[in-house]
Amino acid sequence: MKSIRSLEEWRQLRQQIQKGIGFVPTMGALHAGHASLLKKSRAENDVSVLSIFVNPTQFNDKKDFEKYPVNYEADAAIAEDCGVDYILYPLAKDIYQDDYQFRLSENKLSNILEGEFRPGHFDGVLTVVLKLFNLVQPTRAYFGEKDFQQLKLIEGMVEALFLPLHIVACETLRETDGLAMSSRNVRLSPEARAKAPLIAQFLMSNLSNEEVSAKLKAAGFEVEYVAQEMGRRLCAAKIEGVRLIDNVKI
Ligand code: PAJ
Repeated sequence: MKSIRSLEEWRQLRQQIQKGIGFVPTMGALHAGHASLLKKSRAENDVSVLSIFVNPTQFNDKKDFEKYPVNYEADAAIAEDCGVDYILYPLAKDIYQDDYQFRLSENKLSNILEGEFRPGHFDGVLTVVLKLFNLVQPTRAYFGEKDFQQLKLIEGMVEALFLPLHIVACETLRETDGLAMSSRNVRLSPEARAKAPLIAQFLMSNLSNEEVSAKLKAAGFEVEYVAQEMGRRLCAAKIEGVRLIDNVKI
């Protein structure tokens, strides 16, 4: 496994790779959910590339960005274990050498749900993913259903811009109590961690969206939305300032 920080170095290396690449873009703080994407990429491609980049342009909340967990050593160990060939972990000044002068926006799906509560979030996501696709030039890229709206927007971008790669959707990995695995889960206090599985539990129940929302509020969550879209029931809620999202198939 080789770790590369310099985009210049990566671009030179990329020219020598003739085989098909599987690509897993992440923001690091890797957990078993990320590992499942990495293992799929390893199994389905000759070369597997992981990117770790805490993308500043997709954080509408500066505190959330500053508090985003970073643990390169632990991430590298997980990557190695999942058969990653290259870790790309670029610097923000190199990815945004244009100072975010050029950006990609989508004008429909990105305005609802996450987009309504995180203005500019999906512009940041789509822009960085497009940059990463152009740098890595993968045959396949792996995304989790955990971020369902993101997955749909990336599939839409690939189709709209005729990008020459396949998007592979991967199921949400959960803790044994149902909580969707997330890098933000490490920020939950023991009390909040004990309540966090209620989101998945209620989403999977027969309760109406309004009832799910009311029950989460009663348990101490600040609910942003519980809604049905794209064949899923989706929820975003904060507990003790930690924002959690989840969704299930209807
Ligand atoms: P990040 O939150 O690190 O997630 C990286 C990938 O892992 C995403 O495709 C996400 O959906 C997937 N993932 C996260 N938790 C998962 C789980 N419990 N089960 C299955 N897959 C899971 O999503 C991002 O980073 C960023 O927005 C990114 C696409 C890298 C652009 O910056």
